[in-house]
Amino acid sequence: MPKRPRVVSNVPALRRAVANLRRRGATVALVPTMGALHDGHIALVRLAKRRARRVVVSVFVNPTQFAPNEDFTSYPRTLSRDLAALAAAGVDLVWAPDLKVMYPDGFATRIAPEGPAKAGLEDAFRPHFFGGVATVVAKLLVQCAPNVAIFGEKDYQQLKVVTRLAADLDLPVKIVGAPIVREKSGLAMSSRNAYLTDAQHGVAATLYRVLTDCARRIAAKEQIARVLDEGSAEIESVGFTLDYLEARNADSLAKVDTLKDGPIRLLVAARLGATRLIDNVAV
Ligand code: PAJ
Repeated sequence: MPKRPRVVSNVPALRRAVANLRRRGATVALVPTMGALHDGHIALVRLAKRRARRVVVSVFVNPTQFAPNEDFTSYPRTLSRDLAALAAAGVDLVWAPDLKVMYPDGFATRIAPEGPAKAGLEDAFRPHFFGGVATVVAKLLVQCAPNVAIFGEKDYQQLKVVTRLAADLDLPVKIVGAPIVREKSGLAMSSRNAYLTDAQHGVAATLYRVLTDCARRIAAKEQIARVLDEGSAEIESVGFTLDYLEARNADSLAKVDTLKDGPIRLLVAARLGATRLIDNVAV
């Protein structure tokens, strides 16, 4: 069995462990996660290993990015299984702080991201979300001081927000995006897929099918608004409540009217029962 990675849960121990990893000039990559790891997370670790000599994975379910009505308490917590998967993936160090280590009594500072965090996509439905993400990611980057940090394109707007954050705060880290890992059905892997029943799993695959179909039609110069209207109707017809299906500029997240406004990324968020799913594809 592969050796379990070392797990640290307070900041001084983390700093010592990272300094140790850095001996003889080794570079460090950080992969931030909320645990409940699946193959999408492990793909990020594999990319991290290509980008740096040492890999640190953080596992922290961050309360400040959940609204009171969201799934913070029920979010799957599977640390021992996660550690086994991270051992198999060859991770050097796991940063697993407690709530009180991350947010001690008296904690009173919050980052308020704008720009991509105000694009009118996830932020329109989860107004608290990117403030929580930006604050915790800034802390993680300062705590671990990695050379590289890997984020999935699965959370496309989040990747843009974090890239902006690192640039704006002059953090000496390169933010790297990783492609989306999917189930055989096309459904993007997500810790929240664990909430889906078997029947819902089948329905959930519609999202990717509609996204790829819309991308193909838009690339073939069909009118974007019409393609998205029809795609939205199809997503709703299988039982989803649609939050948005949008075509945006892949770099700026600005709205696009025609192919000329591209490169285009299609982004979707929809709810199936109590489970909210997001996905995106390039055109
Ligand atoms: P979490 O949802 O655990 O995701 C951790 C990282 O894995 C994110 O960068 C996410 O985009 C990536 N990821 C998830 N599913 C993926 C898939 N199917 N393919 C590729 N990458 C995938 O995102 C978060 O946690 C949090 O917001 C965090 C950044 C850790 C801050 O709390």
